[in-house]
Amino acid sequence: GITRNYQFDIQMTNVTRLCEAKSIVTVNGQFPGPKIVAREGDQVVVRVVNHVSHNITLHWHGVRQLRSAWADGPAYITQCPIQKGHTYVYNFTIVGQRGTLWWHAHISWLRATLYGPIVILPKLGVPYPFAKPYKEVPIIFGEWWKADTEVVISQALQTGGGPNVSDAYTINGLPGPLYNCSAKDTFKLKVKPGKTYLLRIINAALNDELFFSIANHPLTVVEVDAVYVKPFATKTLLITPGQTTNVLLTTHAQYPNANFFMEARPYVTGQGTFDNSTVAGILEYENPKSLSSSSFKKNLPLYKPTMPVLNDTSFATNFSEKLRSLGNARYPANVPQTIDRQFFFTVGFGTEPCTHNKTCQGPNGTKFSASVNNVSFVLPTTALLQSHFSGKSEGVYASNFPIIPLNPFNYTGTPPNNTFVTNDTKVLVVPFNTSVELVMQDTSILGIESHPLHIHGFNFFVVGRGFGNYNPAKDPARFNLVDPVERNTVGVPPGGWIAVRFRADNPGVWFMHCHLEVHTSWGLRMAWLVLDGSLPNEKLPPPPSDLPKC
Ligand code: C2O
Repeated sequence: GITRNYQFDIQMTNVTRLCEAKSIVTVNGQFPGPKIVAREGDQVVVRVVNHVSHNITLHWHGVRQLRSAWADGPAYITQCPIQKGHTYVYNFTIVGQRGTLWWHAHISWLRATLYGPIVILPKLGVPYPFAKPYKEVPIIFGEWWKADTEVVISQALQTGGGPNVSDAYTINGLPGPLYNCSAKDTFKLKVKPGKTYLLRIINAALNDELFFSIANHPLTVVEVDAVYVKPFATKTLLITPGQTTNVLLTTHAQYPNANFFMEARPYVTGQGTFDNSTVAGILEYENPKSLSSSSFKKNLPLYKPTMPVLNDTSFATNFSEKLRSLGNARYPANVPQTIDRQFFFTVGFGTEPCTHNKTCQGPNGTKFSASVNNVSFVLPTTALLQSHFSGKSEGVYASNFPIIPLNPFNYTGTPPNNTFVTNDTKVLVVPFNTSVELVMQDTSILGIESHPLHIHGFNFFVVGRGFGNYNPAKDPARFNLVDPVERNTVGVPPGGWIAVRFRADNPGVWFMHCHLEVHTSWGLRMAWLVLDGSLPNEKLPPPPSDLPKC
């Protein structure tokens, strides 16, 4: 491979959306941020210079970071933040991955405006396992607030309630014609008839899983989270924050004399308030016959897609179950067939006593919280990986993360009377190369809700899923150990469970959290500590000399 060098200057930039100007944090003044392009096997070097007063870290979501945990990026997990006037060089190699991933800020809610695509092409001369597309187009969904998102989340945490919902969804940073004064800010996908396009779709929204459709144009899913899947056609796809999905779009053979809306809107499973608006973009055919004046196009009929209803969990289930690893000789599904350690995590909400105020805006005057196995993870003030590596973990974290819930209850039935979480910084320690099976169970505390769980540093195989309580006596018999989908982020079904397997072959401290940012902020997060192996190539190298200090 070769080395791909990028310079990312973090700076404030004025951007106008929904008729209001706002100063946002950007990379190089671009919103959405720049695209990183590399081939499998390349080294990526990103020099990040922070010119703003916010502390910054960047994360390369889904990049395996084999023995390069120092470049992973979650604040206070693998590194201290880059402070104003400071520089940090992220340096990693893309090993065994090709497809679409993305990068985003990984501190507080700054990823609201700091995000961009990562396109990993196959090695030179290696074709896609599908016909070569005519063109490739990144499509990133985002979420826009008129207010400063750092104020939105800090107010929510102070008052103990839920944060204000966003004012718009965006496609490639643009809200589109269904929002006030935004028709000029519409994403247009210009296509030619009779061609196949590869859409690299990324959900960078903070708090919403999304449905996406293009009117009169079925999509063929070919890859998720930078892993090829068995192709299947669908009118609509579901994508959670954190996930990426590559689809093929084949245009009509003849110029259709019409324009087509593409739309994204939320899949909602919880009880809370949400942004129920719709972002639209336009699929516009370039007229092959020189009838290309824009006034002509404006007069074309416009078709809109039929979207699933907001809470269509049966669509979500169906869609998720269609996803299978390609699993051929060239791209095998290396599902761990035997397991060394089994873990069971409850993921869901909880409450905390009100601290700053007498009465918080959460349930019964308490503060909203969220947890894994009842531990609401507290970020330390120094980075876990640095503490671990230097042998100074005392007072920073405890190594006794519970591997099963300490107080089991009927997870999807009546919630327990005591819904308080414990606040702690605990990690789960596993030896190098442990074959892990993890069952994640949603709970009914303060209402069931789908949680898109993301694990840093690993892909995992989704071997099973279901509704209600996981049944260890029955459910494993139905696990798919042949061609389960392999990915880095998966939605735990609302009021259900998901089972994943992975091999802990990557030494370091790896964050795991719900990719709905508000749930992460409430504490639905934890960290794995994967120990070094005994061979030299099984150990985490020492940190780079410019690693930021807290
Ligand atoms: Cu995409 Cu920990 O994040």
